[in-house]
Amino acid sequence: MNRYHTLHIALIFMVLSSCTQNSKTKDSDIAPFEKPYDEQYRPQYHFSPFSAWMNDPNGLVYNDGVYHLFYQYYPYATVWGPMHWGHATSNDMLHWQHKPIALYPDENGLIFSGSAVVDKNNTSGFGKDGIAPLVAIYTYHLMEGEKSGSNDFQTQGIAYSLDNGETFTKYEENPVIGNEGIRDLRDPKVFWHDDTKSWIMALVAGDHLKLYRSKNLKQWDIISDFGEDQGAQGGVWECPDLFEMQVEGTDEKKWVLIISIGSGGPNGGSATQYFVGDFDGTTFTSNQEKIKWLDWGTDNYAGVTYNNTPDNERLFIGWMSNWQYALKTPTKKWRSAMTLPRTLQLKKYGDEYMLHNSPVSKIDTLIQPSETKGFTIEPNESQKVTAQNLNQAKIAFTATKKDFKMSLSNKKDERLTLIYDDASDLLMLDRTQSGATSFNYEFGNKLHHMVTDQLKGEDFKVEIYMDWSSIEIFINDGQYVMTQQIFPTEVYTDLVFENLSDSNLDIREFSISTIKSVWQ
Ligand code: FRU
Repeated sequence: MNRYHTLHIALIFMVLSSCTQNSKTKDSDIAPFEKPYDEQYRPQYHFSPFSAWMNDPNGLVYNDGVYHLFYQYYPYATVWGPMHWGHATSNDMLHWQHKPIALYPDENGLIFSGSAVVDKNNTSGFGKDGIAPLVAIYTYHLMEGEKSGSNDFQTQGIAYSLDNGETFTKYEENPVIGNEGIRDLRDPKVFWHDDTKSWIMALVAGDHLKLYRSKNLKQWDIISDFGEDQGAQGGVWECPDLFEMQVEGTDEKKWVLIISIGSGGPNGGSATQYFVGDFDGTTFTSNQEKIKWLDWGTDNYAGVTYNNTPDNERLFIGWMSNWQYALKTPTKKWRSAMTLPRTLQLKKYGDEYMLHNSPVSKIDTLIQPSETKGFTIEPNESQKVTAQNLNQAKIAFTATKKDFKMSLSNKKDERLTLIYDDASDLLMLDRTQSGATSFNYEFGNKLHHMVTDQLKGEDFKVEIYMDWSSIEIFINDGQYVMTQQIFPTEVYTDLVFENLSDSNLDIREFSISTIKSVWQ
């Protein structure tokens, strides 16, 4: 069942009225950006829009010292609506500057997700006076087409900027890729492929991936398909990304394909899977049998990586929400945030490749130094630590692989609990009592799990980032990751470890550090 169907029918009225609005829209219509980020639940070191609705990160590209973050944006409400590309820039991916809207809907449709490239060789001819154009490649979604019952309402368009993303000009011959009747054909990720001296586009088509090739970003030829009947198919495939990675500590190179699925994730709703395989310039192949999740949490969706990064670093940002309840979360002025920017690494455990993702190392510049300690907890005993504010903090420790529970709570007895069960290799997070949960049944109704069956050794490292309305858990430098939204209505101040095993539990290198705000 196509989510847009349901969502869009409800939004038809808004869409119609917005078509008239678009032609009149000016940046002055949009709330000014100067107010502090001090509202209830407001993330302090994650990106969130100043106001209104945001979903997927788009056009992630580094150019001339600037990390661009474009994003799916509806500036007139805190629910999904006719999509624009919002825009923010940063020098470190942590401190962001809000920019005017980059792309508005036009006669070809709303501006859905896509990517951006720096066309260094001016293959597109959009460059001028030696300036390499920044080219955005995105999906047009034509509401009138969808409403009329046809299947050809998603096409692909391009726009270019000669001032490093400040302003864009749409290509007058858009769309550059039409649609012959594929209902879900969207979210182009384009990258330069040096071996074939061409641009490659990864585009999703319902239940599979299509690859296209171009010499100039304007004419595209379809070159191959991948994935029908492969991997998780519990929802429509969305937001692909394809890139090469070196396997850590070896000379081996593999290609990684990231695919988001709108529903059918390991803990319900939206999630992001990946495939490790090979790409020969035309076809992507993978003999991976197991479904692999980039993040086991419910709130890391539509994530993709940056193009053109210094040192070819693979930097990832995801949207920290889930289509199951994204429209219902209890923030007032804005809705949703991005995950922390993360560095990807490919590692091999025996025959198995695993994609690690962990916060960019620059996050350390925001972390206040703190004391590290260790403790041993006897069976059925607990250890309590109190802090002033665990809602904006990093909690780190190394745990022995024994059954334990760690809970964060506040004076209202709201409680967020992490549970490790060694026999079943499960790490579970219980947010059912964590604060506001009743806005949506799916949000607060169950324990969320992560299958940690590749943890080697006697212990594992846990790093937890709390930011008022989110928790990101990284095990062993991103081997296993869980990202979840939470809405505690008071600060958590108590942290309690309970030893659920029948022998001593060692918690080593334990620390709680405050994380500075990037907005205040
Ligand atoms: C993913 C997605 C994309 C689409 C965009 C629309 O969350 O559904 O497939 O381009 O959001 O806002």
